[in-house]
Amino acid sequence: MKLLITGGAGFIGSNFIHYWLKKHAGDQIINLDSLTYAGHLESLKDVSHRHHYTFVKGDINNSELVDSLMSQVDIVVHFAAETHVDRSITDPMIFTRTNVIGTQTLLEAAKKYGTRFHHISTDEVFGALKLESKNKFNTKTRYQPNSPYSASKAASDHLVMSYHTTFGVPVTITNCSNNFGPYQDTEKFIPRTITNLLEGKNILIYGDGKYVRDWMHVEDHCRAIELVLLKGKVGASYTVGGMNKDVSNLEVSKKILKIMKLPESRIDYIKDRPGHDRRYAVSWKKINKELGWEPKEKFSKRLKQTIDWYRANEWWWKDMKVKSEDFYKTK
Ligand code: NAD
Ligand code: DAU
Repeated sequence: MKLLITGGAGFIGSNFIHYWLKKHAGDQIINLDSLTYAGHLESLKDVSHRHHYTFVKGDINNSELVDSLMSQVDIVVHFAAETHVDRSITDPMIFTRTNVIGTQTLLEAAKKYGTRFHHISTDEVFGALKLESKNKFNTKTRYQPNSPYSASKAASDHLVMSYHTTFGVPVTITNCSNNFGPYQDTEKFIPRTITNLLEGKNILIYGDGKYVRDWMHVEDHCRAIELVLLKGKVGASYTVGGMNKDVSNLEVSKKILKIMKLPESRIDYIKDRPGHDRRYAVSWKKINKELGWEPKEKFSKRLKQTIDWYRANEWWWKDMKVKSEDFYKTK
């Protein structure tokens, strides 16, 4: 098979390329990425020499380029996006351009060639759950996005489904919860927390810290995408999440401090994010029942592995960290 991966120099995309080439060594991958601040080719240095892998620097909004790549592949796995909620508050327009128009540009080409199209989406399209509730998002939950980021992802999901219903494009969607693991940009909560501590700085918690995210390891996510690509029902969406009970940002911070043998006095509270979603929790019953997927390892074990990875790979994050903290200073 020949796959077009968009956004393969980002966090989940680069993990997926590693995962896919390990499991499907005969397949060809084209990675289309415009290398925004979030694209890091260093994440792919282990695979860049392989003749099964080709990197193309380009924008998903470039319809000519997209058309020519689409004509060569069997499947598209669409990761490329603007992904950081805080940036969607300071600079929302680029989120619409990339996440909505960029997705539609790809869909137009997929329509022309009848290409199988898998869209990587987020649980944030469903909005926020109440802290005291036991509810979880599932594929029937009403869309109710709150940030410009989640609104742009919701719009892209609707476009994907509309191209299936109207034009018969063979699509699938996964809406998954917060990922963590190697190669995640230091702007995001878990890597920012770990790298702050490694640099002797404190953890910065937004608001009261009682915000809940449904953390899942990126490798579990890659396995879910693989199953949906190979066995998923065309026209269907799947919600994917972690194995945790609710865990707040404050509790995640305390777990990281415990693993790193540091005191809780290393936590600082800072101004809250506007429109901050209180709680996410995702049901993965459908993908479990239909495709047999479930998350593999416990959160604490994966968290320790992630801390070890950032400790061992300072070369990968040191320069990026300066840039991500520069962004936070301008907020
Ligand atoms: P990321 O920010 O780490 O990487 C995004 C990649 O897309 C970068 O390599 C960037 O250069 C590329 N890109 C951005 N605009 C582009 C454009 N116009 N043309 C081509 N390439 C472009 O993102 P991530 O965290 O790996 O997320 C990947 C996907 O998964 C996104 O669609 C995101 O919405 C979704 N998602 C992420 C999470 C998470 O926890 N990280 C959870 C659920 C869903
Ligand atoms: O739910 C899936 C989504 O998860 C993805 O669709 C997004 O692309 C991804 O960025 C992520 O969004 P979040 O906003 O949940 O992730 P972030 O890492 O920015 O923040 C996680 C939580 O931690 C959130 O409640 C805000 C809080 N936070 C974040 C940072 C960076 C802090 O308290 N302090 C921080 O320094």
